[in-house]
Amino acid sequence: MSNMILLPLAGNETFATSLVEPLDARLGQVEARHFPDGESYLRIVSELGGRDVAVVCTLARPDEKILPLLFAAATARELGARKVGLIAPYLAYMRQDRRFKPGEAISSRPFAAIVSAHFDWLVTVDPHLHRYGSLAEIYSIPTRVAHAASAISAWIKLNVESPVIVGPDRESEQWVAEVASEAGAPFIVLEKSRAGDRDVTVRTADLAQWPMRTPVLVDDIVSSGGTMIEAVRMLRSIGALPPVCVAVHGLFADQVDRKLERIGVRVVTTNAVPHWTNLIDVSELVAAATIQIRPTV
Ligand code: R5P
Repeated sequence: MSNMILLPLAGNETFATSLVEPLDARLGQVEARHFPDGESYLRIVSELGGRDVAVVCTLARPDEKILPLLFAAATARELGARKVGLIAPYLAYMRQDRRFKPGEAISSRPFAAIVSAHFDWLVTVDPHLHRYGSLAEIYSIPTRVAHAASAISAWIKLNVESPVIVGPDRESEQWVAEVASEAGAPFIVLEKSRAGDRDVTVRTADLAQWPMRTPVLVDDIVSSGGTMIEAVRMLRSIGALPPVCVAVHGLFADQVDRKLERIGVRVVTTNAVPHWTNLIDVSELVAAATIQIRPTV
């Protein structure tokens, strides 16, 4: 099979470079900018003829990325790519999986339809699967999911002495149970209720049986930070040791990373979304998922 060409969109160059060796791929070049009227300009500089192409673009703040992404896919095909896949370490819109109020868009569905219409395959890291059992429920193209749990537990083992893994809500149990098992640590899952985008309540945890363990809060996404902040507040109120917060995808709306820093919380994320808190590398896991998907398309 000929070498795959990785086409990183802006901000994804470092992650794409880390995939070159494990995928035995070549790094292609894309030029992207805006015209004075705000429309997107895109140019694929590299020769693509007959090769498999993977556009690399994490989808935090997706609305500003989706058009360049689709232009890249369409242009790659016009330039002769054999198949065009998408490596999106963070997959957006997965949390809009239900109509909570009459008339609301269940955005995950049209978003999945748009991506499926333009790409031949998709690789991502721990998508937010809450009310969907798998990506196949909404994506009509082959997909592979890389799980960050092993990389997160390896980081915890090396950096946190005597941890207890804490999931902030029931959805997090899937990640927390796996991380705890691989880190050889106990875990508990808290009860969370959400009244609005930034209005979150987390109920008391029973950590009495592990008084000398450091709580490590593990969640898939930090967005407004409300979940982590409330969980930290609750843990402090019961006299737990200072917690560490670990997230797969650090979106950090409204600079909440700085707020967490100000209140003395150590926050660690994976490089699925580039950020100064990235201490956990998931590129090898993404490369492995990409190798698995190629023969199927
Ligand atoms: C929700 O179910 C997710 O697992 C996260 O807990 C949530 O997305 C975090 O969002 P925020 O940082 O806005 O509380």
